[in-house]
Amino acid sequence: MDSTKYSLKDFAYIQDADIMKRASIFQSYMEDVKEKHHYQYRRVSLNGSGPTMEVIDTYTGKPREMIYMASNDYLNLTRHPRVLEAGYKALMKYGAGAGSVPLLGGTLDIHRQLEKDVASFKGCEDAIIYTSGFGSNCNTLLALLGKQDIAILDQYVHASIVDGCQKTNVRYFRHNNMDALKKILEKSQNEYVTKLVVVDGVYSMDGDIAPLDEIVELAHKYGAYVMVDEAHATGVIGEHGRGTPEHFHLEGKVDIVAGTFSKAFGAVGGFIASNAELVEYLRFYSRGYMFSTAMTPQAAGSLCEAMKVIVEEPQLREKLWENIRYFRKNLLSLGFNLGHSETAIFPIIIGDDWKVKEIGRRLDEMGIYVNPVFYPAVSRNLSRIRISLMAGHTKEHLDKVLNAMEYLGKEYGIIGNGSIQEEIAAGAE
Ligand SMILES: Cc1ncc(COP(=O)(O)O)c(C=O)c1O
Repeated sequence: MDSTKYSLKDFAYIQDADIMKRASIFQSYMEDVKEKHHYQYRRVSLNGSGPTMEVIDTYTGKPREMIYMASNDYLNLTRHPRVLEAGYKALMKYGAGAGSVPLLGGTLDIHRQLEKDVASFKGCEDAIIYTSGFGSNCNTLLALLGKQDIAILDQYVHASIVDGCQKTNVRYFRHNNMDALKKILEKSQNEYVTKLVVVDGVYSMDGDIAPLDEIVELAHKYGAYVMVDEAHATGVIGEHGRGTPEHFHLEGKVDIVAGTFSKAFGAVGGFIASNAELVEYLRFYSRGYMFSTAMTPQAAGSLCEAMKVIVEEPQLREKLWENIRYFRKNLLSLGFNLGHSETAIFPIIIGDDWKVKEIGRRLDEMGIYVNPVFYPAVSRNLSRIRISLMAGHTKEHLDKVLNAMEYLGKEYGIIGNGSIQEEIAAGAE
């Protein structure tokens, strides 16, 4: 099979092919993707997340070091000594697992501590914690919204939000477009019992920030509530890293604040922070919480410490922003299109699936680990190389990636021929 003629979307359903047949057709597609060296999924790491990573080469099977430009470990807390030690202590004190679901014996004092800490970090009364960010979004929405309600979603919200809205009415508005949101709010005004506008604080594919101040004002004006997913915002934006509500001086004014513990917090899990009554309701009606074993003690211990590190070591966030500013300035001066990105996520928009796959392959050969993103994850004219930065990247790492992007950008006709050094010397912003 010629994989260039197809995308992942084509194998989600195939008429008259049962599940085994479908999997087998998909297998032949993937074989051709590998043949072309366009397979950049599930690279196996030998030492875990960090600015560089030892990875088993997909094609030779040999280990090699790569500059890791695809992690959500924005502050490198996955390996922070305080976070590791706290996790180790919790592991030794409570054991490897929580032993039960939270309602029936699985709740530890460190789980409760984490709930309280994350609630106060987000300026809310209380919080519920889940074992994944996906689970927290999805199960919360499934618990809250039914046939009589409506979820009004930004078109780019995370899949966990989309999947959580399967039991309710759904309308999408154009990304970050307040006129489109307003129209839907006007139309739904007297039709539904609960109206919930759901947005991401920072969008995972684009790195741009939702205009949360306008969203909250509009939604509340029309009697709707707001839920914001803070996965890529927490630890990154806001004066103290508290995320999008802090960025817009809206703390305490957003009805439901969701987030993950797997990105800047450096471990795994998710949370929903809100008023105490709503949180308590979720503890009894959110099936993914009630019927699933509580977070591991090691994760909870690490996360309680990670919360403290974010507050007590602002220099980590400052270093991340230094890297963001440097990388952004240089990519823009080279002539790359970064869309509306404002944060640690850099979509280098190329708009041609083949070029994205080829540039991904070449970067991989150069020892640079990025995420090529193409249809159906984004529309074909917005296919891109997605890069994310960490506090621990050095200027040397960033320069190596910038030089590679300059070289490949020119070779594939994405940018002009002016050299990066000339542009920087000319003081381009
Ligand atoms: C915006 C957004 N929300 C939620 C999630 C899910 O979080 P987790 O990885 O903790 O399940 C992700 C993760 O990829 C995300 O990008």
